[in-house]
Amino acid sequence: MKETAVLVSPAAYADAVTSAVEAAAAYYSDGTTPLGDDEYDALVRAIEAYELAHPDDALPDSPTGKVAGGAVVGDVPHSVPMLSLDNVFSAEELTAWAAGLERRLGQPVRGWCVEPKLDGLAVAARYREGRLVRLITRGDGLAGEDITHAADAVLGLPAVLTEPVDIEVRGEVLLTQEQFEQANRIRIEHGATAFANPRNGAAGTLRAKDRPYRIELTFFAYGAHAEAHDAEHGKSSEHGEDGTADLGRLDHSELLARLSQLGANTAASTPAHPLRCEELSQVRTRIEEIAALRASLPFGIDGIVVKADSAADQERAGSGSRAPRWAVAYKLPAVHKVTRLLAVEWNVGRTGVIAPRAVLEPVVVDGVTVTYATLHNPADITRRGLLIGDQVFVHRAGDVIPRVEAPLVEQRTGAEQPIVFPEVCPRCNDEIDTSQQRWRCVRGRGCQAVASVRYAVGRDQLDVEGLGGTRAVQLVEAGLVTDLADLFTLTRDQLLALDRMGDTSADNLLAAIETARSRPLNRVFCALGVRGTGRAMSRRIAAHFGSMAAIRAADAQALAEVDGIGAEKAAVIVAELAELAPVLDRLAAQGVGIAVTTPPVTTPAAATEGTEGADGTDGTDVEAAAPLAGEAVVVTGSMTGPLAVLSRNEMNELIERAGGKASSSVSRRTTLLVAGEKAGSKRAKAEELGVRILAPEEFADLVADLML
Ligand code: IVH
Repeated sequence: MKETAVLVSPAAYADAVTSAVEAAAAYYSDGTTPLGDDEYDALVRAIEAYELAHPDDALPDSPTGKVAGGAVVGDVPHSVPMLSLDNVFSAEELTAWAAGLERRLGQPVRGWCVEPKLDGLAVAARYREGRLVRLITRGDGLAGEDITHAADAVLGLPAVLTEPVDIEVRGEVLLTQEQFEQANRIRIEHGATAFANPRNGAAGTLRAKDRPYRIELTFFAYGAHAEAHDAEHGKSSEHGEDGTADLGRLDHSELLARLSQLGANTAASTPAHPLRCEELSQVRTRIEEIAALRASLPFGIDGIVVKADSAADQERAGSGSRAPRWAVAYKLPAVHKVTRLLAVEWNVGRTGVIAPRAVLEPVVVDGVTVTYATLHNPADITRRGLLIGDQVFVHRAGDVIPRVEAPLVEQRTGAEQPIVFPEVCPRCNDEIDTSQQRWRCVRGRGCQAVASVRYAVGRDQLDVEGLGGTRAVQLVEAGLVTDLADLFTLTRDQLLALDRMGDTSADNLLAAIETARSRPLNRVFCALGVRGTGRAMSRRIAAHFGSMAAIRAADAQALAEVDGIGAEKAAVIVAELAELAPVLDRLAAQGVGIAVTTPPVTTPAAATEGTEGADGTDGTDVEAAAPLAGEAVVVTGSMTGPLAVLSRNEMNELIERAGGKASSSVSRRTTLLVAGEKAGSKRAKAEELGVRILAPEEFADLVADLML
């Protein structure tokens, strides 16, 4: 289904209605629809357009006319219909929607609440005197299915509230990313198929009975109404006339706070927390912020919900049969898409790890065409039960590498083929070490010496000019270089013996290598290409330990003290350093990376005590040595002036040399934002939080003494 589809005939319209109804039914039952969210929305828009042009032909079961919800109608009537939300897809549509609402109210909206649209399943949880008595799915919005049996496994949905109130709490049940992965591990162990994505997993888990295993889910509350005692028979009071839950006529943001006080989980505990905004411009900024957070959130969101916050506005605006008029969903592009797994490639990485990669039928996910996706390791393939030719769900969000989630087992045709695992290293044909989850060529880094050397001499590592391209291949093929330590023992004669290497090139290369000999510890460490450490982590490790000897002496426990290193990563780093011991010994013998770096001054208290500055001076003028002491600095946009030549890594190094802490995202802890040209949402967020903002030129003045 193309985004721009126009339905030209009554037959095409009828087909579209049938497809949409079937897709919705599957979606609301077990989520097996191969129609992605984007395609479904496009289909409904095409149906809407047709109905607008041919109002008399509208079919009674059209998805536009009824409370969305689908075919699984349960037998527990809802006390108040469980409505859906209308959608907008752009800032312009949001503005138009808000203007419509204000026209209806006859006055400006008295405050908005902006919150994440959680990608799970809507449920209603009935509490009697503070005890959970029933959990019901949305069903068709008028009646739902009793799923009280599943309540125990839902975190954030307490069996007993903190007060003995009669209340119906409504919200979304989902699997967090962690719960989804855990669920699939458990299912495979029990011989069941993996869930295709978290939403399907939540749907399947909520409705399942008598499973021999338990899968944990998470609840987020986003609404409630007070319940009369006989609510189960259809009587209720939306605004709590009985007063027991004390919901009165709370504004939406107050209601959320009250729910959390009663013990229900809300999105307030997450970075995408609901925010009250006075103006629509703030709403737009908050939408951008939540959208930017999407990839890093521990659970899926498929949009952002904008609600009129005031109870009076809500009451006045009222609701249609399908959706309230006081709230709207700002939809984000789908991040889960279905496509076909065409093949699996096996690539040997810099460290000799043999990583499988899925080759996919190209599919657009969140505006980007995805052709490859990560499969992590062979065990991961087995765990997901994938076959070549399978229809698979692919996930991609933000800058995260696309990943294959799971196959749609029910779509199999029988023509699918098993995935063949390599028996020897696909690069050098040597053996494979399969003792760990990640398979590795027994030659380790040696299998990919060119890639290791190229990485080591890169701009943010040793920065050796003239070694990035074919020279590295030449040196490795000539047997002169197998790792980065070999670079420092190259002789002029050896170089001159190479093809296309004249006196000048040889001298330039030797001079560049000589300069690299005195690179600071963080860069030498980064050049090693230790698994699990990049530029930022290398800076933190160097600052924490101060010398290569201290890093090598550290055990896993000591490494885990570094910000961002957990137990698992610490163990990998220890193992990597043990493996790199011969290279490290030779580097030390060559005087590379042996300098002791005093950790920079980071606190004003240390400064007044006259601690040695980062430059090794006696520290009498620490203000000049550490102008950013105590500052948490974020850089955004493109740099101009003297900073224009610096890469982002070099900017971060500069900040840390100046005693500051460099970070990539703006938070309440941020004290300074360096905002260059085209600074976007980070600048807006810094402004909102009242963070000091400097132009690149002003910042350059501040740290002028430290710019090398
Ligand atoms: S408000 C009467 N708030 O989105 C108000 N819904 O597409 C109706 N959803 O049925 C719901 N996060 O299942 C609301 N913060 C949020 C939400 C949310 C997810 C779901 C809910 C609803 C569907 C509509």
